[in-house]
Amino acid sequence: MAKIIDGKVISKQIKDELKEKVAGLREEGKEIGMAVIQVGNDPASSVYVGNKKKACEYIGIRSESYELPEETSQEELLALIDRLNRDDAVHGILVQLPVPEQIDEDTVIKAISPKKDVDGFHPESVGALSIGQKGFVSCTPAGIIQLLKRSGIEIEGKECVVVGRSNIVGKPMALLLLRENGTVTITHSRTKNLKDVCKRADILVAAVGRPKMIDASYVKEGAVVIDVGIHRNENNKLCGDVDFESVEQVASAITPVPGGVGPMTIAMLMHNCVEAAVMFDE
Ligand code: GUN
Repeated sequence: MAKIIDGKVISKQIKDELKEKVAGLREEGKEIGMAVIQVGNDPASSVYVGNKKKACEYIGIRSESYELPEETSQEELLALIDRLNRDDAVHGILVQLPVPEQIDEDTVIKAISPKKDVDGFHPESVGALSIGQKGFVSCTPAGIIQLLKRSGIEIEGKECVVVGRSNIVGKPMALLLLRENGTVTITHSRTKNLKDVCKRADILVAAVGRPKMIDASYVKEGAVVIDVGIHRNENNKLCGDVDFESVEQVASAITPVPGGVGPMTIAMLMHNCVEAAVMFDE
């Protein structure tokens, strides 16, 4: 039976470390601020944004939230971002995605100063990651590296297979595993013999977006399996991209859904915001 990698426990450790760091910074007179912008009221986005604000409060980061109406124009949003880019009391800016269709997501991402890009989505942040320079890293893959490291799982020299090539998870995940000296394969919907490729993995990261697609037949005995997916099944219960019940029989370690990768994303967002304040404030 696989060891369960507990994202709730590990994310709490990280948040507690950050809380201490933030308290220390406050004693030096530094207050950290994050702006959280939501356009429209997509219910899932509202839950995520609420959780981000709660995490700020827990750690001691001042959060200011901007809940803009669904019909907000791109110009209005860009004007707000421009103002926040120039506000010294704001260290991190987050625009919750997706944005309504009249707003171009790439334009918005590029408008956020790379110094405040706590999501790690700006092309400058992505470019820095790809050439091994300092910069903000997308929170979900950064959180997965923390889950592995803090569970004592070595990455160096391991066969790592990432299923999914999104800009937010798959691609940065592959780059981070490479930075840790893993041997990395990215797979996607056009990959031939996906099962065989997955079966080579010592570390398998599932970020496909299809409920329970990765079952035990994709997993080598003793592999570590990380599940990035989150879906509701026919009984309204949460499940991931991995068929947990079958895979836990063959894996050596596995992340549950919920309580695996999910809580790590917010912990790393908080990490990025503290870094933004430390790195870029004179
Ligand atoms: N929507 C879904 N995930 C994310 C995320 O990590 N950041 C932002 N800004 N929006 C999202």
